[in-house]
Amino acid sequence: MNNLRKKYSFLLVLTVFFSVLFFYSCPMEADLELETPSLAEAYEDYFPIGTAVNSTTIRSHRDIAKYHFSSLTAENEMKFDHLQPQKGNFTFERADEIIELARKNNMMVRGHVLVWHSQTPAWVFQENGKRVSREELLERMRTHIRIVVGHFKGDIYAWDVVNETISDNPNEIYRRDNPWLDIIGEEYIAEAFRAAHEADPDAKLFYNDYNAIQPQKMNKIYNMLKKLLDDGVPIHGVGIQGHWDIGSFSSLQLMQAIEKYASLGLEVQITELDMSVFSWGDNRRLAEPSTEMLEKQSQCYQNIFNICKRYPDDITGITLWGVADDSTWKDNYPVRNRKDWPLLFDVKHQPKEAFWGVIEASK
Ligand code: GLA
Repeated sequence: MNNLRKKYSFLLVLTVFFSVLFFYSCPMEADLELETPSLAEAYEDYFPIGTAVNSTTIRSHRDIAKYHFSSLTAENEMKFDHLQPQKGNFTFERADEIIELARKNNMMVRGHVLVWHSQTPAWVFQENGKRVSREELLERMRTHIRIVVGHFKGDIYAWDVVNETISDNPNEIYRRDNPWLDIIGEEYIAEAFRAAHEADPDAKLFYNDYNAIQPQKMNKIYNMLKKLLDDGVPIHGVGIQGHWDIGSFSSLQLMQAIEKYASLGLEVQITELDMSVFSWGDNRRLAEPSTEMLEKQSQCYQNIFNICKRYPDDITGITLWGVADDSTWKDNYPVRNRKDWPLLFDVKHQPKEAFWGVIEASK
């Protein structure tokens, strides 16, 4: 009897021992989350890692944005139509919320964007129902820049001053559908940079464009920037937007572009990075991305970060155009209402293979 009791007590002790061991060796969900490395920390020796946020995602994606990113860009809230919807009526509330989030969490902020042909209200280009004069438009542009850059002075370290002025058409330099160019002429570019510099001499001023690594367009951008620099225009960097897809992204083109722009003494940033799982022209609709798509996407992201790390003196930031796949403009471009999965976190905000590819590249 005594022996039996001893045996049972021994078994009980063993059971308790192994249960405790099992309990502590199984990480709980919260622990797993904490164990996910932070993107910003992984790259802190290289450059800030940013994300574009908007008035909705600063709430719905706040924790993940704070944990993984060290820089913010407003997806829309600092564009002309948001900041000055009517002449003289400046509306900073939504943009200020983004600044507040950055301030509280020690994040940097890129300003986006001062002068662009898109998302600019019609009133800017009109006067009494007619086309505004060149002098008046220059005045409106300078006023907008002075007030906006002045408002954010000290909070915004870099501005996209001019966005997308170069044409994709091999036969022309500047794009045609741009009222700034049409009414003022190409001097609007230099004037915009001068006005921004005057409003905040400490801010880094960027020219920003898409297809900026495509050789033909890159050469046009390079020539324009070279001329501006030769003329003494205060310009400090070039933003390669980086809206790419897994079918056409070229590591070689990215390297060539970084070297070409950096040869002008300019900083280079990737300012709007996302990687569509659909090659250009692939208009399919899918319920889920395939494993192959996600692997390819991860490889592309890994290549981008590996390349950027190789240019520590030239690359001064990479910003993702969104936080997670549940909120991305790619769901409506180039195919309206077609789900895409271009970012580093999935629709449930969990790290994707692409995330781990980026972490791998940091090592
Ligand atoms: C361009 C602009 C961005 C944004 C994207 C699409 O790249 O620079 O502000 O509008 O298009 O989301």
